[in-house]
Amino acid sequence: MSLIQGTFTGQGHDVAPEPEIAIHARGLRKSFGATHALRGVDLQVSKGEMTVLLGLSGSGKSTLLRCLNGLHPLSGGEATVLGEPVHKTKSRRLRALRSRVGFIFQHFNLVGRLSCLENVLVGAAGQIRGPRYGLLSYTKAQRREALGHLERVGLGELAF
Ligand SMILES: Nc1ncnc2c1ncn2[C@@H]1O[C@H](COP(=O)(O)OP(=O)(O)OP(=O)(O)O)[C@@H](O)[C@H]1O
Ligand SMILES: [Mg+2]
Repeated sequence: MSLIQGTFTGQGHDVAPEPEIAIHARGLRKSFGATHALRGVDLQVSKGEMTVLLGLSGSGKSTLLRCLNGLHPLSGGEATVLGEPVHKTKSRRLRALRSRVGFIFQHFNLVGRLSCLENVLVGAAGQIRGPRYGLLSYTKAQRREALGHLERVGLGELAF
């Protein structure tokens, strides 16, 4: 598994400001029984940095991403994501962290009986309170943002 990292720099700065760390992982390990999917991964990603995770099928890319947003408990090591120490954080705070981390699952897990727009809005489900009753559970701003994202990728016409 390899990392390719690059930074989007701001304009007109003679001296680059100290980067804010978005992800910091050290010695990260994850095992599934006898399968050692991650054997001590060190990773640092700054805010605004684009990182490509490249590797053969089965090399642990998905496992690493799932560990970083707390979907998999770690077998060892430490990871801090957006200031949250994932290795010692309990489920409620992990849910809060996941509501701040955009994540596209490898198998999209779309819900067939929901509209395209509602499937996009599920990404904001962690930000709304109480029971969900379709589109109107989300704020106007959230609906507008979701529609904007669909339009950006040429799917606006399929929203409803
Ligand atoms: N839930 C699980 N239970 C048991 N083994 C798992 C589980 N998830 C992943 N593994 C194993 O961990 C290893 C890493 O899998 P992972 O899915 O992270 O690889 P990947 O790099 O994302 O592969 P791909 O490119 O095919 O998506 C593999 O050997 C896989 O079989
Ligand atoms: Mg994968």
